[in-house]
Amino acid sequence: MAVEQTLSIIKPDAVRKNLIGAIVSRFEQAGLSVVAQRMLLLSRAQAEGFYAEHQGKPFFDGLVDFMTSGPVVVQVLSGENAIALNRELMGATDPAKAAPGTIRADYAEAINKNAVHGSDSPTSAAREVAYFFATHEVNLR
Ligand code: PPS
Repeated sequence: MAVEQTLSIIKPDAVRKNLIGAIVSRFEQAGLSVVAQRMLLLSRAQAEGFYAEHQGKPFFDGLVDFMTSGPVVVQVLSGENAIALNRELMGATDPAKAAPGTIRADYAEAINKNAVHGSDSPTSAAREVAYFFATHEVNLR
């Protein structure tokens, strides 16, 4: 299996609930390493650009409102099969449908406050990592 990098975001609801450590701990215990990390308050333009493929969908404005409602932690996770492994750890988008023991089942409130984001494919991961981090920042370890 290949070592991959994936972009993870700990969303404003999880940051507000002091869940950063608990979520990072799940990644690390599953064998993923944090190779870059930053806390920031997204601007509307940053959030709209990040979710550009969803522009025009009914949830788009609410998603941008939510993602700019408080600080987030953007991070690059690295490990074998990191993209799929991170999505497995997160669980389904809607926490009501997420498998027991996943991050969203345990920590997310609703589909519009779902605690974490993770890249869904190698193409998305490359775009999303580059959206927040320069190349020299993601090759430190
Ligand atoms: S789609 O239409 O199937 O491509 O959308 P999906 O991949 O499920 O979700 C895209 C992102 O939008 C978030 N989302 C929502 N936000 C607010 N309200 C509703 N109803 C909603 N549905 C989906 C979802 O969490 C995805 O964001 P990320 O950051 O990738 O989790």
